[in-house]
Amino acid sequence: MEIKTNIYLGDSKEELKKLSDNSIDLIVTSPPYADQRKNTYGGIRHEKYVEWFLPISEQLIRVLKPSGTFILNIKEKVVKGERSTYVMELIIAMRKQGWIWTEEFIWHKKNSYPGKWPNRFRDSWERLLQFNKSKRFNMYQDEVMVPMGDWAKTRLKKLSDTDKIRDNSKVGSGFGKNISNWLKRDKAYPTNVLYLATECNNKNHSAAFPEELPEWFIKLFTKENDVVLDPFMGSGTTLSVASKMKRNSVGIDIVPEYYKMVKKQIKETELYLCETKAKYEKTKNKRRSKIR
Ligand SMILES: C[S@@+](CC[C@H](N)C(=O)[O-])C[C@H]1O[C@@H](n2cnc3c(N)ncnc32)[C@H](O)[C@@H]1O
Repeated sequence: MEIKTNIYLGDSKEELKKLSDNSIDLIVTSPPYADQRKNTYGGIRHEKYVEWFLPISEQLIRVLKPSGTFILNIKEKVVKGERSTYVMELIIAMRKQGWIWTEEFIWHKKNSYPGKWPNRFRDSWERLLQFNKSKRFNMYQDEVMVPMGDWAKTRLKKLSDTDKIRDNSKVGSGFGKNISNWLKRDKAYPTNVLYLATECNNKNHSAAFPEELPEWFIKLFTKENDVVLDPFMGSGTTLSVASKMKRNSVGIDIVPEYYKMVKKQIKETELYLCETKAKYEKTKNKRRSKIR
C-alpha cells in the first residue's frame, strides 16, 4: 500500500477542521512552549496558554480514533523565580475536555547545556504527556523492548525465596512479580524515562526534536499503514520518521518557510522512492530476460 504524507499551512485550530472524525492513530507533537521563541514563531504568554491550546485540543480529540494516543512534549519555564503552573493547569483543563491523562513519560536530555544558576541546577528533562480518549487503546509494548543487560545476572545472585514464587499475596492486585521468570530472557520492557540526546540531524529548525523521540512512540502506538499527526510539525521530524516507518502522516505549521521546507523534503523523498522503484523494476526485467 502506498504511504501518504499530507501537509497544511495555517493555524492548527482552523486547519484541523479539515480532517475527518476518528481518523488518526497517533498524535506526536511539540507545540510552542509558553513565553519562548517570540522572534521565530511568536510566543504564547503562560497566563494565556490554556485558553490558546484548548480549541486545538478540542479538534485533536475529535480527529483521534478511540484506539489512538496523543503524546504532548512540553515543559514549563521559570517565571520570576518560580516554575510556571501552566502545564498543570492544561492537564486539568484537558481532563475536563474529555481526555484521559494516562501517563507521563520523561525525556531525559543526556547532553543538556551546562550552566550555573543561583537557585537551581540545569534543566535536563522535559515532559511527554500521554492522553487518550478511551482506556482501551492500541499499545504494542513488545516493539520497544530493551536488552536485559547484566541486570538478570546480578539479580540472580541475590534471589530471595519470595522472588522465586509468584508474589501476589501482599497487595492482592492479582499481579505477581515472580522475578525468576525474567532471568532466562534477554529482553525486558523499558521504563517511562527516555534517555535521548537533544542534538538532532535537522538543523533547519531552532526547536526540532531528535528522530528517536517520535520513532519510539510510533513503534509503541502504531502499526504499518496507520496515520500519525503532528499539528505543530516545524521541520517535519515526525512526518519523515513516520514515512520511513511506513506510516501515513499529516502535518500542520503556521510558518510558510517551514511548510515550504517540509513540502520540498516530501517531494525529494517521493522522487527518491520513484527512482529506487524504477531501478528495481529495471534490474528485475533484466534478470527475467536473461533467464528466458
Ligand atoms: C517546537 S516547534 C516544533 C518542532 C518540530 N517538533 C520539529 O522537530 O521540527 C513548534 C512549531 O509550531 C508552529 N506553530 C506555532 N503556532 C502554531 C499554530 N497555531 N498552528 C500551527 N503551527 C503552529 C511553529 O511555527 C513551530 O514550527
